[in-house]
Order: sequence, then C-alpha cells, then structure tokens
Amino acid sequence: MSLIGVEVPDPGPGEVTVAVRAAGVNPFDYKFYSGAFGADPNKLPLRIGLEVSGVVTAVGPDADGPAGPISVGDEVIAQVSGGYATAVNARVGGVVPKPAEVDWKQAAGLISVGGTAVHLLTATGVGPGDTVLVHGAAGSVGALAAQLAVARGARVIGTASPSRHERLRAYGVEPVEYGPGLADRVSALAPNGIDAAIDTVGTDEAVDVSLELVPDRSRIASIVAFGRAATDGFKVLGMGPGADPGTEIRGNAWRELLPLLAAGKLDLAIAKTFPLAEAAAAHEFVMDGHAGGKVILLP
Ligand SMILES: NC(=O)c1ccc[n+]([C@@H]2O[C@H](COP(=O)([O-])OP(=O)(O)OC[C@H]3O[C@@H](n4cnc5c(N)ncnc54)[C@H](OP(=O)(O)O)[C@@H]3O)[C@@H](O)[C@H]2O)c1
Repeated sequence: MSLIGVEVPDPGPGEVTVAVRAAGVNPFDYKFYSGAFGADPNKLPLRIGLEVSGVVTAVGPDADGPAGPISVGDEVIAQVSGGYATAVNARVGGVVPKPAEVDWKQAAGLISVGGTAVHLLTATGVGPGDTVLVHGAAGSVGALAAQLAVARGARVIGTASPSRHERLRAYGVEPVEYGPGLADRVSALAPNGIDAAIDTVGTDEAVDVSLELVPDRSRIASIVAFGRAATDGFKVLGMGPGADPGTEIRGNAWRELLPLLAAGKLDLAIAKTFPLAEAAAAHEFVMDGHAGGKVILLP
C-alpha cells in the first residue's frame, strides 16, 4: 500500500468533491487487495476506502443527494470508492449531511458498519420479546447490532472477550465469553432458548452454536460465514456468494442511525486513529480481529 499524488478531476454529473477530514477503515479494505475478490492485475492500482466525512469543495450538475441539494461548504458523510485520500469525488446518492453533534471520526466510521447492523436486525426480524444472540458483540458491526436490538425491545446476549464485558453491560447486553462451552454458557442464561442469532464472526463455533440454539434457521444471519450458509441453510448478508446485499435497507440506514448517534443514544467506539500515511499500520491493527472499535485515518 502506498500514497500517491493524483489530480482530483472536476466532479461530473451527480458527483461532488469532498475534502476528507476522516476516513473509516473496514476489514473489507484489506480483504479487497488480499485476492479474496480476484487478482486481476488490470485492476491495479486499487483505491481503498469505502467511507469518509468531510467538506464539499465542488459540486457537479444534478447534485441532489438523498437529503436534498448539496452545496459547497456542506459538512457531509460520503460513501466512496478510494476514501483513503485528502480529497475524493463521490456519487451524490451516497452523500448525506453530517449532524453537527457528530464528530468527524464518528461520522467517517458509522455508516458502513451501521448499515450492516440494521440489515442484520431486519433480516432476522428482531423485535420486542425476542432473545437474541450476537456473536462479536463488542466488534464494530456487532456492538451496533446489539445496541439496536436492545433499543428494539429484545433481550440480547453477546459474545466478547472478557475485557469488553463491562462495555456490553453498559449497553444493556448480557456478555458471555466465546470459546469452548459457549452453547452451555448461553443456555444457562437463556434456558428457554434463543429466538435469533446474529453472526459477525464467522467461526465454526459461532455457526454451530447458532444452529444448535435457534430453532428457525431463517432467524440466523451471518455476514462472514458464506461457506457454511450454503450448506446449513441460514441467511448470509453482504457482497459474498449467495448473499442478500440489502442495498435498499443499507442505503437508508443513515436515516435511523445518525439521529441516534447525534442524540447520544448509540455508542460508536473509536479504538484508534492513524495518520493517513500510516494506513498499512492501521490495517495490521484491524487484521488482528480485536481492535475493540472503529479505526479511523486522519489525512
Ligand atoms: N457481509 C457484510 O456485509 C459485512 C459488512 C461489514 C463487515 N463484514 C465482516 O464482518 C466481520 C466483522 O467486522 P467488524 O468491522 O465488526 O470487525 P471488528 O470490529 O474487528 O470486530 C471483530 C469482532 O470479532 C470478535 N472475534 C475475534 N475473534 C473471535 C473468535 N475467535 N470468536 C468469537 N469472536 C471473535 C472480536 O471480539 P473481541 O474483540 O471481544 O475479542 C470482535 O468483536 C469482518 O470479517 C468483516 O469483514 C461483513
């Protein structure tokens, strides 16, 4: 991975230019160049980064975003291709206003994981009275899914390393440690069973425990276990094979998420920030799988 200087062209129809204040790092970013999505040399150089927050500096023709017309000077959140940058052009369909109460880092880190969390809850039909198991409840996607499930009136049991348990309790989540004996620990907390399982981890343990404890496989959804979903008949969400992309649900999730974050009703933990030039170190930190929150690049 290297930083190179490129001209940002004038925005075309339906585009705006955003001066980046913060760029969100997602596990997808390193998977993107890992070969998991193909290794065609003609696609190089790959520009990395799905989401940024920043200020609009130029506006192309027909610049109406989902929240209305976009103007120079607007503080925005943008879904982009190549967000690890000081400036980037964005399609207006993925550009929404940044609430003043939400800082640049949180604004850059919320939408991708938050949209995934909303999709997971919708796909599993989580609602009042449900008991829900969230695998990876202290991860970036899992923590939002767990909080949103609590807000929807569900009882939530979440797996995490012990050092994260206090944070989960603060969310109203009942923490359990993952690892051998997980099904027994969850059953001890919920002897009447689990109604739905949300898997953000994808290990055989997470899948096996979900299959063992949730009677209705249409109420198990994973964002990682694509292979197991094909053989075991549960839902898989996102961009992998056989997955439901949930484009509309994810595209509209900002309408629910941003007011909650702005009102302090949703916690988006920021684990660490890195200068843009240290994006490779940021990826090593995220690859470890225990970052404990979002990682953000600052140009
Ligand atoms: N399909 C999609 O649409 C989609 C969208 C977004 C993300 N994803 C994928 O979803 C995954 C999670 O993303 P994220 O941003 O939430 O990652 P993250 O913030 O790094 O969280 C990873 C979580 O996994 C937990 N974990 C690590 N090893 C574990 C194990 N052996 N057993 C149980 N839990 C374990 C961690 O728990 P502790 O820290 O408590 O140990 C942490 O909660 C990534 O693989 C990402 O690529 C898919």
